[in-house]
Amino acid sequence: MNLKLAYIAIETNKFDEWREFSKVIGYQYESAGDAACLRMDSRARRVILVKGDSEDYAYSGLEMDSKDEFEAVIARLRAAGVIVMDGTPEGTALRAVEQYASFVDPGGLTVEIAYGCQDADTVFSSPVLPEGFVTGELGMGHIAFASPNNRESEAFYIDVLGARLSDHINHKMAGGELEISFLHFNPRHHTYAFASANDINPIVAKKALAKKMIHFMCEYPDIRSVLQAQERIKAAKIPFALTLGEHTNDKDVSFYVVTPSGFHLEVGAGALQIDDSTWVPQKHNAISIWGHEYQLGGGPILGAVQKWLLR
Ligand SMILES: [Fe+2]
Repeated sequence: MNLKLAYIAIETNKFDEWREFSKVIGYQYESAGDAACLRMDSRARRVILVKGDSEDYAYSGLEMDSKDEFEAVIARLRAAGVIVMDGTPEGTALRAVEQYASFVDPGGLTVEIAYGCQDADTVFSSPVLPEGFVTGELGMGHIAFASPNNRESEAFYIDVLGARLSDHINHKMAGGELEISFLHFNPRHHTYAFASANDINPIVAKKALAKKMIHFMCEYPDIRSVLQAQERIKAAKIPFALTLGEHTNDKDVSFYVVTPSGFHLEVGAGALQIDDSTWVPQKHNAISIWGHEYQLGGGPILGAVQKWLLR
């Protein structure tokens, strides 16, 4: 069973800011009643903006290939004692799917499963990224979540939803450690990652893990298009969260920007893909091989405090 990330819904009131942000990133912004969608390919829905105050993750949808698979996963969830809610007709229309169902995972995140995800009536068109994003069998990207207990989330997705462990990163910071579990459902190195703070300075932990979604990632076709996006973001004066760098685990070359909702978007390319027949989960001691320097210090005094807290 190879599930794919089909869509992410974000609760926001900043539709105008997201529209401008989309132009720079390369999404095709379309209104959908009270909501809006940021298209990334032929699909009608990828990022869905829904009205609300949290400026955070609302839900995401994992796509199944068939109704049989969809029903089998619901049965597995129910057998594990998870309450599964059937989708509504309005919700089905908003997501442009044949059917969906939702549940709350052990970390309190609303997650959905869906099948029959529909293409839009029009061809995908992005003036700044005409070749489009890397999606298809890899899904639309990945999400890094703040988790109260990454090991509990990891066990749930492996046992109940058929995820496989990609690796762990144990990153020492602020007097403690950030542990991140990376999980894959298909060859994309990770679809969901869960980060927990262990003994980290509470001020840093509160800031780093303030929202349910730390970031989501969308993949460009090559490094050249990542560098072009970097120039557009500089010109548009969108704040960078992390500079260009390379991750230790998936070898993705990426940078991070602050979205209108405050969490980050990772823009990257060149991530490795996993072959389950040969993959052995690794443990890494750092997030990045090079780069990815934090940019949100808040001026020289706050920057110095931040540096001290992160030591
Ligand atoms: Fe990421």
